[in-house]
Parts: sequence; C-alpha cells; structure tokens
Amino acid sequence: MIRVAIVTDEPGWHGARLRKAFNARGAAVRFLSLRDCALRLDTGSPRIVLPGFADGLPDAVFVRGIAGGSLEEVVFRLDVLHALHEAGIPVYNDARAIERSVDKGLTSFVLARSGLPTPPTLVTADRSRAEAFVREIGAAGRPLVLKPLFGSQGTGLALIRDPAALPDAQAVNGVWYLQAFIESAPSGAADWRLLVAGGQVAAAVKRTSAEWRTNVALGGRCHAAVPDRSAREMAERAASLLRMAYAGVDIAALLADDLLRRRLGAAGPASGLAAV
Ligand SMILES: Nc1ncnc2c1ncn2[C@@H]1O[C@H](COP(=O)(O)OP(=O)(O)OP(=O)(O)O)[C@@H](O)[C@H]1O
Ligand SMILES: [Mg+2]
Repeated sequence: MIRVAIVTDEPGWHGARLRKAFNARGAAVRFLSLRDCALRLDTGSPRIVLPGFADGLPDAVFVRGIAGGSLEEVVFRLDVLHALHEAGIPVYNDARAIERSVDKGLTSFVLARSGLPTPPTLVTADRSRAEAFVREIGAAGRPLVLKPLFGSQGTGLALIRDPAALPDAQAVNGVWYLQAFIESAPSGAADWRLLVAGGQVAAAVKRTSAEWRTNVALGGRCHAAVPDRSAREMAERAASLLRMAYAGVDIAALLADDLLRRRLGAAGPASGLAAV
C-alpha cells in the first residue's frame, strides 16, 4: 500500500478530509510534524528520520502546513522537505515552491516579471523609499495595502493613505511590502479564490466581504461560482509560474460581482484582473 505522510501540526478537519481522500485512493496516511523530524548525517548514508517511518521513507509527502518559529526552526523544517526531495520522494508542494509562495515579495516578483497583471508593489527595507512610494501611488488617488512579507488569512494587513501612517521598522520586521489598493466592489470587497491542482483549476469560490479584505478568517463569505476562462487561465498561469503542484490563487477584479457587471453592461473582466 502506498504510504503518504501529511505534514501538519494540527490535522483538524483539513487533515481528516485529506486522509479520507487518500484512503479512498488506496493510500495509507500518517500525520507528521516537522518538529519531530531529524537529519542524521554520516558520510555516504544520510538519513532522514521521520517518526512512524522507521522502516523506510514514505512514498509521498503532502505538505499541509509548516509551523512558524525562529528563522533557524523554519529553515530546518524546510531542510527536511528539501532532503526528502533530494532523496527522490515526491513532496507536494516542494520546499522551493513553498519558499516562492510563502514570501509575498518573491511571489509578486515572479508574477510581475512574467507580465501577469499585478498591482504596483514595492518591497523595501528603507523607510524613506517606502514613504516615497506611498506619495507616488497616493498622487494617483490610490491608497496602499501594507502586508507582512509572510502572512496568511489577512492577518497584519493595513490600509495606508499617508506616509506618516507607515509603521516603524520593528512593526514590519524590517521590511515594508506595499501594494497599490485595487478597488474590487462599490462597497466592501469581492474576489475569486481558485484552487489549482496539477496545472488546472479544480475548484473555485467567489468571496465577498463588508470590509476591504475578503479572507474568510476575517468574516468574508464564500459563494459557489464558476469562474470565467480569463480567471481560470490567470490562476493556472500563476500556479505554473510559481511551479506549485497545488495553489490557492486570489484574483481581484474591478466589479468582480458578475451580476453587477451584467447590470452595468461592462465588458469581460480580463483587463481588470490582478493576482494579489
Ligand atoms: N492590493 C490589494 N488591493 C485591494 N485589496 C487587497 C489587496 N491585497 C490584498 N487585498 C485584500 O486583502 C486580502 C488578503 O490579502 P492577501 O491575499 O494578499 O494576504 P493573505 O490572505 O494574508 O495571504 P495569502 O493569500 O498569501 O495566504 C485579499 O483577499 C483581498 O481581499
Ligand atoms: Mg489571501
């Protein structure tokens, strides 16, 4: 039987659903915390020590989550994933893909470089440069979104309208990531979340929110919806550029609400889409 290790510190309902899906495909599952792994390195015979796999490595590793920690702890957890990849074990997503996608600066760079519509963004460790960018974008009448370089579920995001409102270096761990704000709906916000797996969109929801962030963790609501071709192609392209086996891609579009768009008789959304 194929043995799959699911990397997570909190299996929860996600883990239970993944286990069920793997079992249904004939694979046995064991949850694994990277905290409990070790590398035992002897010349010619390095060993990746995984609890529950004393008799050999799993056939595949599915990474559901990596716990935060000190820089050393996080790097070591990624080392274990790198080592598994080097040992020929399929790792989904592999450590390189995780590094590209968890870091918003690198993600935005890869997307912008490829010509995928991305809001104007600045990543800098220099506060005066950050202030100048707020003035530049502000001159065009747009606020900015300040994001932690590593973050998810909308935590730590702030709207910035004035250079003086920028938090100090300590509050942003020394790096300001600033992105021009995209107006997505006349009130509140709306966007798409597309799940790309194996190169293709496998599922999608539309999210709406009374505030400007659509994250479900912050009260955003999900609606079943079928994305149009331009949104699907954009999500698939983003996942492929970041070389991710699976990815959740957020796409914001001006007037993302289809009903509203139809009512206003506007054209397709292609030119208004942007991956954030
Ligand atoms: N440039 C932007 N303009 C308008 N709204 C934005 C912008 N960037 C982010 N948002 C809003 O904030 C939400 C959270 O932002 P984002 O998706 O970048 O961070 P996250 O959800 O914390 O991290 P990740 O999606 O990488 O896990 C988005 O879903 C969107 O609603
Ligand atoms: Mg998001």
